[in-house]
Amino acid sequence: RALHASSPAPSARPIEQVTIFGAGLMGAGIAQVAAASGLKVTMTDVSDGALENGRNIITKSLTRIARKKSPDDAAAQRSFVDSVFANLSTTTSAPDAVSSADLVIEAIVEHLGTKQELFRRLDDVAPKEAIFASNTSSLSIKRIGETCSDARRKRFAGFHAFNPVPQMKLVEVISTDQTLPEVTTALLDLCKRMKKVPVQCSDTPGFIVNRLLVPYLLEAIRMVERGEATPEDIDTAMKLGAGVPMADPIHVAQFVGLDTLSHIASGWRAERVSTGEIDAKQVEEVALLEKLVGEGHKGRKSGKGLFDCE
Ligand code: CAA
Ligand code: NAD
Repeated sequence: RALHASSPAPSARPIEQVTIFGAGLMGAGIAQVAAASGLKVTMTDVSDGALENGRNIITKSLTRIARKKSPDDAAAQRSFVDSVFANLSTTTSAPDAVSSADLVIEAIVEHLGTKQELFRRLDDVAPKEAIFASNTSSLSIKRIGETCSDARRKRFAGFHAFNPVPQMKLVEVISTDQTLPEVTTALLDLCKRMKKVPVQCSDTPGFIVNRLLVPYLLEAIRMVERGEATPEDIDTAMKLGAGVPMADPIHVAQFVGLDTLSHIASGWRAERVSTGEIDAKQVEEVALLEKLVGEGHKGRKSGKGLFDCE
């Protein structure tokens, strides 16, 4: 399959209404950027508390951007924040959330069964032409879509944004062997509208970035576990020695969420080692990671991980 086709088929219908499932780090970030790009966005989650958390994430990020845009003008800052929120509604009702969606993006917990169950329910209630996309970090897009009808699987793809979404330019657009070209094209167009740089990926473990990044982050935590260096020194060494911006792996792991990293690794151990897609050694369980997650230390989102962080 040519990934670099120069003139893809035109998109069938422009995406105007986007529904995001999950109001956590990623869902809120995608909702924010989509709403700021003029799309009509519905953000949904399982509880009012989770939606409140998502709105708080967005408010904090928009306020930061607004202060930068209009440093001495509180009214302009407020008006900017309000203009983005005007494009965003929230609900805990999944059927209401998708009833007029052109695109549904799922950014819920990194667990195959939970994602499959969500899409199975949505398939019956969303418009037939709506595109379904997952923001999974590591799971197979094709498998996530398995619980949907044949017709929907043709309109099913990956839309993998990066954390923090307002800041990170990249989106990986993942097509399965069933995804229609017009669906891929519509998602590539959407990325551009959201001022993101898209790359096209095959449905392989971790796509491009995480395939390279996750083993690196896990090995950094193993170094701490083996007592070879402190978390702070590992970060300093990689930041100053490897020359890549944000190469410091402990910082990035805490940014991603230690729980999410643990889910990625265990998912790959369960599904991708026996198929030969992933080397077992690279994703061996890291006891220190599991201990921290078990104690509720998830990194930035809980304020504590391998070191304190906010
Ligand atoms: N919303 C809006 N603006 C933000 C923001 C946010 N959440 N976070 C940072 N910014 C802005 C700041 O306002 C600032 O703007 P200017 O440069 O215009 O002044 C700029 O970003 C830099 O911010 P800081 O001064 O706070 O600088 P920083 O050194 O803390 O950089 C960062 C912030 C760029 C986000 C940096 O912390 C970073 O690169 N973090 C790691 C990001 C990363 O590697 N993400 C990938 C994780 S892997 C992944 O996402 C895939 C997966 O599936 C797990
Ligand atoms: P998070 O824990 O911050 O948020 C997940 C949200 O999903 C929570 O608010 C939770 O209440 C909600 N949720 C769970 N089940 C739900 C359901 N059935 N319906 C609606 N909402 C539900 O997680 P996150 O870091 O935002 O990650 C979300 C997804 O994005 C995962 O698949 C993850 O792998 C992927 N991802 C994460 C990062 C990252 O750096 N954290 C980057 C890219 C992709």
